[in-house]
Amino acid sequence: MTIERLGIVGGGQMGAGIGEVAAKAGIDVVIVEAAAEIAEKSQGRISASLEKAVSREKISRADADATLARLQFSTEPGELADRQFVIEAIVENLALKEDLFAKLDSIVTDPDAILASNTSSIPIIKLAAQTNRPDKVIGTHFFNPVPVMALLELVQSLKTSEETVERARSLGEQLGKQMILSKDRAGFIVNYLLVPYIVNAIKMFEEGFASAEDIDNGMKLGANHPMGPLELADFIGLDTMLFVQEVLYAEFADPFYAAPPLLRRMVDAGLLGRKTGEGFYRY
Ligand code: 3HC
Repeated sequence: MTIERLGIVGGGQMGAGIGEVAAKAGIDVVIVEAAAEIAEKSQGRISASLEKAVSREKISRADADATLARLQFSTEPGELADRQFVIEAIVENLALKEDLFAKLDSIVTDPDAILASNTSSIPIIKLAAQTNRPDKVIGTHFFNPVPVMALLELVQSLKTSEETVERARSLGEQLGKQMILSKDRAGFIVNYLLVPYIVNAIKMFEEGFASAEDIDNGMKLGANHPMGPLELADFIGLDTMLFVQEVLYAEFADPFYAAPPLLRRMVDAGLLGRKTGEGFYRY
């Protein structure tokens, strides 16, 4: 059951985090990116995270070096041919993901290899339907920052086999994660709860009900959350927040899930949170 060769498509914040954790666990990892400079950025991101882990004494220098040596970066999807498990972590765009799953199905030669998606909201069955192995397609939803967050949310579509769930669970154990299993419904378990909570905080702020600091301190000091909801929105990215909320709205057609105008306007303005230097706070 042990996975020795993992592939990741997309080396952004999530893909790089998954790659780092997998390589740290002794797995040989190939990360495929669209362009050489993005692949380099991904490598830099992982090196910086490992440096932080070394400085916090979470890992030895020798283990950090060995981790980096287990990671290969490429712009050639063909490098994924021999992988036993491939995780897609590209941008949240259905058409791009569908296209990628169709390609992966022909690139990855082992018919038993699993094709997984780190999507935070797209139905897994839509991706599975692009392949000839829908029983081997599953959602593996990691949380940011991947090296720190304990959770791996597995998403079983109507076609995902029990064996695939068990193999994904076993990979999660190799990575030191704790698993929860969700059905293939918008938001899965965590975002179904988390995203409307954050969006409600945005509505409160938009209505002038309380300041951003008071909303955040309310949840940090009164509910022991490590970050308040607006801080967390900035951390996740307001574009991602809006995307997930719209998927929830489309799925349930309930006005409760309608995104507030302020969230839309901030996304229009490029105020996406930490990644652009400004959201509800300045960075
Ligand atoms: N490798 C290993 N360990 C690391 C590390 C790394 N690269 N970086 C940090 N750590 C460790 C630190 O050593 C520290 O460990 P310790 O508690 O044993 O000392 C711990 O992680 C916390 O690190 P920091 O001290 O640097 O940071 P903070 O204490 O300020 O916490 C945070 C930062 C972990 C981001 C915390 O604020 C937090 O948990 N925030 C909430 C994050 C969250 O909710 N994420 C989920 C977002 S939703 C999502 O991803 C799903 C998507 O679909 C929307």
